[in-house]
Amino acid sequence: METRTDLETSATAQVTEVMHPLVQHKLGLLRDVTTTTQMFRQLVNELTLLLTYEATKDLADEEIEIETPLERTAARRISGKKVAVCPILRAGVGMLDAVLSLVPGARVGFIGLFRDEETLEPVEYFVKLPGDIADRDVILLDPMLATGNSTAAAIETVKRAGATSIRLIALIAAPEGIERVHREHPEVLIVVASVDRGLNEKGYILPGLGDAGDRLYGTK
Ligand code: URA
Repeated sequence: METRTDLETSATAQVTEVMHPLVQHKLGLLRDVTTTTQMFRQLVNELTLLLTYEATKDLADEEIEIETPLERTAARRISGKKVAVCPILRAGVGMLDAVLSLVPGARVGFIGLFRDEETLEPVEYFVKLPGDIADRDVILLDPMLATGNSTAAAIETVKRAGATSIRLIALIAAPEGIERVHREHPEVLIVVASVDRGLNEKGYILPGLGDAGDRLYGTK
């Protein structure tokens, strides 16, 4: 896929912005204020599928021998750690099925954080992670990397549980969020469909898409 890496937002940032036409087309539809809840949910699923493809491209694999109906041949199979996929509640849950459809053996962890609308600081209210998360490649899901406060807190949570290999898939990131995450967690790989202009005074991404949770679940 066509990507842009190491964006100017941070010299050390490991950020991949997926510029593939399918991704950018679907992102435009997702941003559109006239897109219905049903369509929004479907687009989040499709975009996450495409971003997962990119985010998993360096998973370790190995050569094996298999038998086709005609002869023995070499094939490849993923050989490294198993995957733990961890959506950040609640909007990250809208991305979960897409990852599980590509990595059906993944274990799922949930991290419940909400953003205090005054301080913009994350408040942790629910955490349930696979017991063996330390032995897994962790994929965090959070559609909007805005201030980065809640994402940095979620990364801290999985690290406290022993995780050492961590990737984040977001649909849209603000430069401020990328800076924040990489200041504290420079090794975390971030895969996004877009790095947007910045944040407004309420911490919303501009141009963004509004509140991802509300648009996914039809709440307001
Ligand atoms: N969370 C959202 O859902 N949207 C934003 O723009 C920022 C944080």
